[in-house]
Amino acid sequence: MRRMDKKLKLLTYGCQMNVADSERMAGLLRQIGYTLTDDADDADLILINTCCVRATAEDKVFGQIGRFKALKRLKPSLILGVAGCMAQKEGANLIKRAPHVDFVLGTGQSCEVARVVQSLEEMRNAQCVMRNDSDSTSRSHVVDVSNVSGDIPVEVFPLRGGHVSTFVPIMYGCNNFCTYCIVPYVRGRERSRKPEEIFAEVKQAVAEGFKEITLLGQNVNSYAGGMTFAELLTAVDNIAGVERLRFMTSHPKDLSDELIAAIAGGRHICEHIHLPVQYGSDKILKRMNRVYTVENYLRLVEKIRAAVPHVSLTTDLIVGFPGETDDDLQETLEFLRAVQFDAAFTFIYSKRSGTPAATFPAQVDDETKHRRLDALMKVQNEISLAKNRALVDSTVEVLVEGASKTDDKIFTGRTRSNKLVLFAHGDERAGDLINVKITQAQTWLLKGEVHVLQNF
Ligand code: SAH
Ligand code: SF4
Ligand code: F3S
Repeated sequence: MRRMDKKLKLLTYGCQMNVADSERMAGLLRQIGYTLTDDADDADLILINTCCVRATAEDKVFGQIGRFKALKRLKPSLILGVAGCMAQKEGANLIKRAPHVDFVLGTGQSCEVARVVQSLEEMRNAQCVMRNDSDSTSRSHVVDVSNVSGDIPVEVFPLRGGHVSTFVPIMYGCNNFCTYCIVPYVRGRERSRKPEEIFAEVKQAVAEGFKEITLLGQNVNSYAGGMTFAELLTAVDNIAGVERLRFMTSHPKDLSDELIAAIAGGRHICEHIHLPVQYGSDKILKRMNRVYTVENYLRLVEKIRAAVPHVSLTTDLIVGFPGETDDDLQETLEFLRAVQFDAAFTFIYSKRSGTPAATFPAQVDDETKHRRLDALMKVQNEISLAKNRALVDSTVEVLVEGASKTDDKIFTGRTRSNKLVLFAHGDERAGDLINVKITQAQTWLLKGEVHVLQNF
């Protein structure tokens, strides 16, 4: 008989896309009787959804897989699965390196997770794993990384985390092949979901009580589901109950005037664009295959700011790309001063084998990479702080997320510009839209007081 009270411990690494995929896999596993647990010791199934964008991400996953070895020895019925980008990249190598892993599922096969788990359960129940068979290792493991551009999961009811904000994927994969990046290899070619499916999922999330929707894709601007991304965004903006609408990520080469107009004219579309530039010198941008110049980017920023005056702009930057010199870094620092981003996520270049840049000459040594990262962060942190300080004494709209992790008297929320705000908790509830007067600014957050509007 099939048990219906099984426990799933789900660990998710990587980007928002992985968070969304995890929620979908949890939704599928719920249909075969799994409920979530925080406690790995209590789990019947542990699923690790992995990232391989940088070596550090992979190291974390290998560390985590290793930690579950002892648990598997204590509890042989435990099923341990690895899904996501690193699973796609490593395939059967993962089993060779960690034979206690039961299954490896690539990104294109995540919708098969329940079927794979069921087949392993059945094998266990029937005790039909032929241990004396010379091929027993391959029989008791499942590895499916066969189709990286696999079908988009349909009719999935994701088991969403959180209560206020949630992600809705609109497309999968990437066709851009930036020379440093592993994502196109582990996520396959671009595939767009149909608008009706996206609308249905947004409505379902709203019905579950979510107030803020973030539409997700590696490059949402190349959405090709039968309408433009701007049209899709506007249509989602008109769905009743969507109180805030965000999207990520936008490749600067494809950000259209139509999209800028949609943001400017939107009702719930937040005035925030995450627009990864990756670097601030033309020489490096060309080698990265980003297909725009510093000048193109600066003009785009001007255009956005002219149309959406209070827009907040954030970015991603990579230091230590092969061939980078101190002069390139200086250009990038000047570029940062010129753009005045609200925030930047800065990464040290990580060599990904199989990508073109891994074989480029003039790889940068670790010490230089760290020195350049420090220089970049120093300049950007000053800019972020100045931008946040400019908000002190102003009143901003905050979507309440709930109690902070460290102090239940302090609540957190986000501005429309996606800045984190901490404030003393009154009678607000998660999901409320409130006005907060900003009293203090730091580099990565704001502090404020709930602004009670006077009724005369
Ligand atoms: N599709 C998104 C983000 C993809 S990965 C985009 O194009 O913006 C998120 C970020 O990781 C990238 O923006 C990039 O800054 C960083 N990244 C990707 N590959 C990297 C590598 N090999 N080393 C360091 N950072 C990397
Ligand atoms: Fe990677 Fe470039 Fe695709 Fe982003 S656009 S996922 S950085 S290849
Ligand atoms: Fe990582 Fe895959 Fe996202 S490699 S950054 S989890 S698309």
